[in-house]
Amino acid sequence: MDYLVFLSSLGFFIYLKRFTDLIGLAIGKMKTISSGMGEIKFFIKNFFLSLNLPMITAQTYGDFVIDGAKLSDLKEVNYLVRTLKDGVGFGLSRCILYTIAGGKLLVVTRRLSKSVPKVIGVDVFYFNKRDLAENTVHEGFIGVESTFQGRGLSLAMRSHALEHFRKSSISGISTRISVSNEASYRSAAKLGFRIIERYLDKNMGEERCYLIRHF
Ligand SMILES: CC(C)(COP(=O)(O)OP(=O)(O)OC[C@H]1O[C@@H](n2cnc3c(N)ncnc32)[C@H](O)[C@@H]1OP(=O)(O)O)[C@@H](O)C(=O)NCCC(=O)NCCS
Repeated sequence: MDYLVFLSSLGFFIYLKRFTDLIGLAIGKMKTISSGMGEIKFFIKNFFLSLNLPMITAQTYGDFVIDGAKLSDLKEVNYLVRTLKDGVGFGLSRCILYTIAGGKLLVVTRRLSKSVPKVIGVDVFYFNKRDLAENTVHEGFIGVESTFQGRGLSLAMRSHALEHFRKSSISGISTRISVSNEASYRSAAKLGFRIIERYLDKNMGEERCYLIRHF
């Protein structure tokens, strides 16, 4: 009798385990589908909003030129972002978006002194849900190759971006900066970005600020 009870309990637990595995699998699939849908929505929204933006114009800055990204820059831009962001580059939706609208949403710095120009700085923009509500555009990332840091290039790219987006109907630029990132914060503050809120980013485990530079 005890033997039968043992076998039926074992069967029940195996059944329960399979059932919970299936639920886990279904939740995983739903998360993948919903993140895929999110990526598609992000692309469509940003594609249509970019139609109203002018092209970023080129401007010389010493041995560098600050410009909108061309198709030929994208590989180097993605490499730079990956290098400066712990290996995280653009996802598929951003790759497609910047292939189409990089000249309106990506400010790059190219070094001119070598025979082949090379991208050594990038300022990345897109529209989030909050930007739509507040009529801003989001600076998702700014980065300068380590050898060229400290030469005022972040200030130059941010100023260029301010001039560029000022030409559209957008009323400001938003960004998020970790409190510990003194270089990025100083550059933003110098150009008039003001802290709107301070919060703890649980995913990053860091204190961060949401800032806006109104035009
Ligand atoms: C943040 C970053 C883009 C700044 O670029 P940069 O071209 O080196 O910065 P700039 O030369 O334009 O300097 C801007 C201001 O920051 C200051 N600054 C630059 N590096 C600094 C540092 N390491 N610590 C403190 N202040 C610094 C400069 O002195 C300058 O202020 P000042 O004009 O009052 O002197 C660059 O450090 C970087 O790529 N970091 C890695 C990626 C990153 O953290 N991106 C930001 C994500 S939000």
